[in-house]
Amino acid sequence: MLRELTVADVTERYRDWLLEPEAKKNISATTDSLSELVQYVADRTQREDVLFLGIFDLLSGLHVGNLKYEPVNTELGYAIVGVLIGEVEYRGRGVATEVLVASTAWLKENRQINQFLLGVWKANLAAVRAYEKAGFKLAETPLLPNRPPEAPVMILNL
Ligand SMILES: CC(C)(COP(=O)(O)OP(=O)(O)OC[C@H]1O[C@@H](n2cnc3c(N)ncnc32)[C@H](O)[C@@H]1OP(=O)(O)O)[C@@H](O)C(=O)NCCC(=O)NCCS
Repeated sequence: MLRELTVADVTERYRDWLLEPEAKKNISATTDSLSELVQYVADRTQREDVLFLGIFDLLSGLHVGNLKYEPVNTELGYAIVGVLIGEVEYRGRGVATEVLVASTAWLKENRQINQFLLGVWKANLAAVRAYEKAGFKLAETPLLPNRPPEAPVMILNL
């Protein structure tokens, strides 16, 4: 289940996701301080051009990860996406693919966004595979210029 994140979702468990080695290596978390993380989420939940979603297990309600669209540029019709499946035992079960497919379709339908972009470390094979399964392809774009070859851009056009 996906819903907008709130500051009440910022728990020590969420903070600990950012300290896990795979997450540390692959996402650019700005902080691992709980109070700064509350501020980080609070800032984004107020912004019109950010969609910050929590991913929850439908049965248990457990918060297992986050999906962030920042910015959502409704003028130019594109959004930059980032995903973290924080609970390690939820990785490799198709969660990232499922939430990407559902949320990109929602943004197309409701916000007229038809291009989704992200930068990914080539060595992050699970991420590249998850994005490919959701329809993303390696591509170049002036919206994310001068990418190093080891961290290319992937794009989904809907
Ligand atoms: C990358 C990440 C988002 C993927 O989420 P996920 O829910 O595990 O992804 P999915 O299960 O939808 O797909 C992962 C695919 O990669 C494959 N995979 C996993 N580990 C792999 C590896 N080491 N080498 C190759 N493929 C791998 C899985 O088998 C699966 O493919 P398949 O369905 O064809 O078998 C998640 O692992 C994560 O949050 N990692 C830490 C943070 C991160 O890297 N975020 C992305 C930054 S760009």
